[in-house]
Parts: sequence; C-alpha cells; structure tokens
Amino acid sequence: MPALEYQLPFTSEVAAETAALRSRLSNVIPDAEWQLFAPYIAAINRLKKERDAVILAHNYQTPEIFHGVADIVGDSLALAREAVSATAGTIVLCGVHFMAETAKLLNPAKRVLIPDQEAGCSLAASITAADVRLLRERYPGVPIVTYVNTSAAVKAESDICCTSGNVKEVIESLGVPRVICLPDRFLAANVAQQTKVEIIAWAGACEVHERFTADDIKTFRAMHPGVVVLAHPECPPEVVEAADYAGSTAGMIHYVDKKRPPKVVLVTECSMSDNVAVHFPELSFVRPCNLCPHMKLITLPKIYACLRDNAPAVEIDPDVAERARQAVERMLMIPLPA
Ligand code: 13P
Ligand code: SF4
Repeated sequence: MPALEYQLPFTSEVAAETAALRSRLSNVIPDAEWQLFAPYIAAINRLKKERDAVILAHNYQTPEIFHGVADIVGDSLALAREAVSATAGTIVLCGVHFMAETAKLLNPAKRVLIPDQEAGCSLAASITAADVRLLRERYPGVPIVTYVNTSAAVKAESDICCTSGNVKEVIESLGVPRVICLPDRFLAANVAQQTKVEIIAWAGACEVHERFTADDIKTFRAMHPGVVVLAHPECPPEVVEAADYAGSTAGMIHYVDKKRPPKVVLVTECSMSDNVAVHFPELSFVRPCNLCPHMKLITLPKIYACLRDNAPAVEIDPDVAERARQAVERMLMIPLPA
C-alpha cells in the first residue's frame, strides 16, 4: 500500500463544497478533524467519478467515510447483495478483507479494491480451509454453514454461507436435524436458542463483541434508566439474553428507525452509534466503545490513494473462487428475513 505522502490542503473551495455535509456531521466530527477530512472527501468524490468507481462501506466505518464518501452503506448481507448488482467498473470496499473478497466472488468482472489489504478479522483468522476439511471428515454428511466473516478458501469448503442477518433462515432452509455452523461460537450459540436444529460450533469469536459482558448491560441500565439495549449476535449469549433485541447491524438500525427509543445503546462496534446518530439527532445514544482495529485501518487518505493508484486489487484463485461463489450464491437465494 503506497503511503500517502502529504495532507491535502483545506481551501475555501473545499470548505464551500463540503459545507452541507459539515453541518450534518457537526455532532460527530470536531472542527479540527474536519479540516483534515474535508479535502479528502472532496477529492475522493471527484476521483470516484473519474474512475467509474462505486464505494461500498460497512456500518462500522467512521462517519467521515460512511457519510462523506460512501455510495452504498450496509451490513455484510446488504453489501454482498449490492456487490452483485454494482454497475460501475470498480468497486471500492471500505470494510475488511473478507467483504472485499465476497464482492469479488459475486462480481468477478469488476475491479474490486480495498484501501488496506491488512484489514482482517479475528473470526476469519480463526479457521482455515484445512480445518473445514477435517470437520467434514469428522461429521460426514452434516452440512457446513459458514459465516461470511471467513476467507474465500474457507467458503470454498462450505455448503452455504450466512450472515448475522440470515443465519437462522439459512440453517432452517437446509431441512436437516444437524448442521456445522462456523466459525463464531457465539453466533452459533445464539442461533441455537432460536432453532430446533442441532448446531455444531467452531471456537472462533469476534474480538470486538466477545468483550461485552452481561454486567456491562446491567451497568448501562443502572446508569441510564429506560435505555433500550440492542446487541449484535456476535456477543456472548448472556449479553444477548440481557438485551432487548439482538440483530445484525442493519437489524439494529431498522429497530431504531421503527421504534425510535428515546435512549438507546448499540452493543457493538464504536462507529455504529456515530453513524446512526447522524440520522436520528433527536435520540440519545449511550456509546460503549469497543473498536474494531481492522475496520479502523480504512482511512480517507488510503481510499484516496487506492482510487488514484487503482490498487490494491483483490484477486482470488479461480478454482477457490468458483466453489466459494456457489456457497455465497446459495445464501443469496434464501429469501430475506421479514
Ligand atoms: P453485520 O454488519 O453483518 O451485522 O456484521 C457485523 C460485523 O462484525 C462485520 O464485521
Ligand atoms: Fe471481524 Fe469483529 Fe472486526 Fe467485524 S467487528 S471485522 S467480526 S473483528
């Protein structure tokens, strides 16, 4: 990844061009930071048109990326669906590496760029293709349902993928009494509470969500009476049980939009609350801060450099890609949960 050698200047033209956005983000980005961000926001928005690029950003990206340069934002499932229908020549995936790989699998003719190839994921790192092959030997005939937070090589050894937004529907679509659900032990334990299908789990965990505890939820409720607690299903089951709702990042946003709880806590990655709060300035967000260091490797200067240089591009071995694509496409054929 070429380092960005200089800071773009904050000129009066940049200030004018980004004034409306600046006022929308005034509650989540201080002035001093804005002067650093705005020149990149203006430059990236120009460059992406010149390069026929579309920017897809995950809900955990920082507000200057999420609101400033992204064309499409969403959870893992939405980003996968959007990648299928992207018409621009280049997709820039602002998120972690497995998300960019998924976009490339689903739309292989496009150039897919990720601003920092080192943006990994503790779940993806917890399991290899060889591990999945061993599981298949150990449990012959048991379908393997793989969370999208895995490498293409792991997906290629799987029967079908899932996300936190459709894991129950995917498992139940198979019509079998037992499945292997990997690699997140907490997602597996949480879905096991909602289905009669027996779940065999792997030992992986998200390093952001595994840190939340049931005591944290007690503390939120004690310090903020009346607060509504929304948790991500990558959290331990005792956290999900103590919450008022559990769902994917898109599920949480949908809940906030529908129910408009006056005081709410999103038990998930830090940037979510900032991003959602911009849309709901009348609601009060309690902000626990567990940061995903991988998501935070993506920055405006790196997005700018990646568009400028058309690199780094995601490439996948064609044999792996073919098999992994089938697992992801099987997932996309399952109707969206209501
Ligand atoms: P979703 O946005 O699909 O809920 O995933 C959360 C996550 O941790 C992605 O890395
Ligand atoms: Fe992976 Fe967790 Fe970071 Fe998502 S938040 S990318 S699951 S480590």
